[in-house]
Amino acid sequence: DWTMAAYRDQAIAAIREKVGDGHVICGLSGGVDSSVAAVLLHEAIGDRLTCILVDHGLMRKNEATEVLELFREHYNIPLVHADVADLFIDALEGEADPEVKRKTIGKLFIDVFEAEAKKLAVDGKTAEFLAQGTLYPDVIESVSFAGGPSVTIKSHHNVGGLPERMNMQLVEPLRELFKDEVRELGRELGLPERFIGRHPFPGPGLAIRCPGGVTRDKLEILREADAIYLDEIRKAGLYDAIWQAFAVLLPVQTVGVMGDGRTYEFVCALRAVTSVDGMTADFYPYDMDFLGRTATRIINEVRGINRVVYDVTSKPPGTIEWE
Ligand code: XMP
Repeated sequence: DWTMAAYRDQAIAAIREKVGDGHVICGLSGGVDSSVAAVLLHEAIGDRLTCILVDHGLMRKNEATEVLELFREHYNIPLVHADVADLFIDALEGEADPEVKRKTIGKLFIDVFEAEAKKLAVDGKTAEFLAQGTLYPDVIESVSFAGGPSVTIKSHHNVGGLPERMNMQLVEPLRELFKDEVRELGRELGLPERFIGRHPFPGPGLAIRCPGGVTRDKLEILREADAIYLDEIRKAGLYDAIWQAFAVLLPVQTVGVMGDGRTYEFVCALRAVTSVDGMTADFYPYDMDFLGRTATRIINEVRGINRVVYDVTSKPPGTIEWE
């Protein structure tokens, strides 16, 4: 008779056995997975856990601050804010290849974790373990796709994308779970609903929503458009009905007219899907009023965008993210 309470006890026992009296570093992104992993680890090993928020400059608007506040308000878990935006964005500047982006980001994450582990070392002894909120679908999709031929669809940075040379052992307490199960486990652990209900957000962040090359300016434009889009979703009461919604900044400029002038600016694509586990997904059927209203706001409020389109692709054949 399988219950989440039993799973939780078993997961805690497994963490204790693996970690022994060692120290663990856990990357915290503010997403459901890493939050649940962090709280589970904290229950298992207490203050031998340190969380690190890798603020890579690829997060949504205000996200880093919100995550820090939420965590500091609710938990007594040591939490380091690593402000490393320049490191990441310099390395990604102009990069257009989705797999190179993922691998670059995965490598930098490890560099940051290792550097932080050194800073936290007690008597010269650094953390032996790195924890991640890897889920079962991340594991399968990095290896094969829905029972098909064994090809890599995307190197999820928290699975295949990690450099081999890493000198910490991985702890992945959610590796057997699907997203809905992680949310259930989170409730079992008493996480506030604000964490549990958050839309998924990929580790490589906005970098994989800037096809055609990442630049600081494009990230800024994208961040603003994305914030307006999510604001409209919340105002319309649709946030919880949607699995995940986000803006993508296309590397295409189109002609428009504003006042009596010609504009030549980027196209923004909006994405929203429903899904149970992220393995398959359907595009969300907004009404046209919602789309029109959101497009108008984005075009009026974000400099650099003069056209908005809606992505009506389901998964398969599309993936949820564009890269
Ligand atoms: P795709 O685009 O593969 O996305 O249909 C499925 C789900 O996984 C998220 N995703 C990622 N999450 N690291 C992550 O932590 C990644 O590299 C990554 N790539 C995609 C995506 O946002 C969606 O929820």
